[in-house]
Amino acid sequence: MNVPKHVAIIMDGNGRWAEKRGLKRSMGHLEGSKTLEKLAIHAIDMGVSILSVYAFSTDNFKRDEEEVKYLMDLVVKYFNTKFEKINKKGVRVIVSGRKENLRSDVVEAINNIEEKTKNNTAGILNICLNYGGQEEIIDGAIKLAEDIKNGLDVRNFKREDFYSYLYHSLPPIDLLIRTGGELRVSNFMLYQMSYSEFYFTNTLFPDFDKSEFNKAIFMYENRDRRFGGINEKKSS
Ligand code: IPE
Ligand code: IPE
Ligand code: MG
Repeated sequence: MNVPKHVAIIMDGNGRWAEKRGLKRSMGHLEGSKTLEKLAIHAIDMGVSILSVYAFSTDNFKRDEEEVKYLMDLVVKYFNTKFEKINKKGVRVIVSGRKENLRSDVVEAINNIEEKTKNNTAGILNICLNYGGQEEIIDGAIKLAEDIKNGLDVRNFKREDFYSYLYHSLPPIDLLIRTGGELRVSNFMLYQMSYSEFYFTNTLFPDFDKSEFNKAIFMYENRDRRFGGINEKKSS
């Protein structure tokens, strides 16, 4: 089986999931967090090494204060108590994004979960929080500029070399999934998705269960990745 090593999910559709049921949007986020917990464990069971998920974008601060507060409270609760199953499974949790304008209890919860799971080796769950793809590239470019100022020779600098300037030096994304029906990437991991296979589904994130995830994996296994070259088997 050709399982993707790095899978990324734009977890969209929580709000609509709740609105469809006459519930507050926050209930969709709560349900989405339960879905994430189950999916993270399932992905590792399927042989995925890294699961990156888009939990909160830099642009999501444009939302109502109440919704932002609910999401941040949820993050604190999950990191401090609910991620025990994920930890027991041996998954290392890392968080990508800018910490500057996050609440201090959120930063503390991030540090706790990263510290608690740092020696886990079964797989990586990368949670993108206050994250922007262009911001990640800018932050990396600033670090690179500092290194150049300190004498780094960049005459042979290659695109592979830039990964070490990104938040956690994660490898390229093999499979990018977006739930919720929108056909866009909304400033997600732009550098890492240059040759990703895309899977878009109308399923709202809270409903994106194991069997929905397996459909995406199955689709991936049947894609022909050429990376600009020619697949010998199919050319004539
Ligand atoms: C995704 O769901 C989760 C976050 C952006 C935090 P949305 O909240 O965007 O849900 P919809 O797109 O409004 O349904
Ligand atoms: C992308 O979803 C961000 C997350 C899933 C966290 P949005 O709902 O914020 O994206 P747009 O506004 O539809 O592009
Ligand atoms: Mg949305």
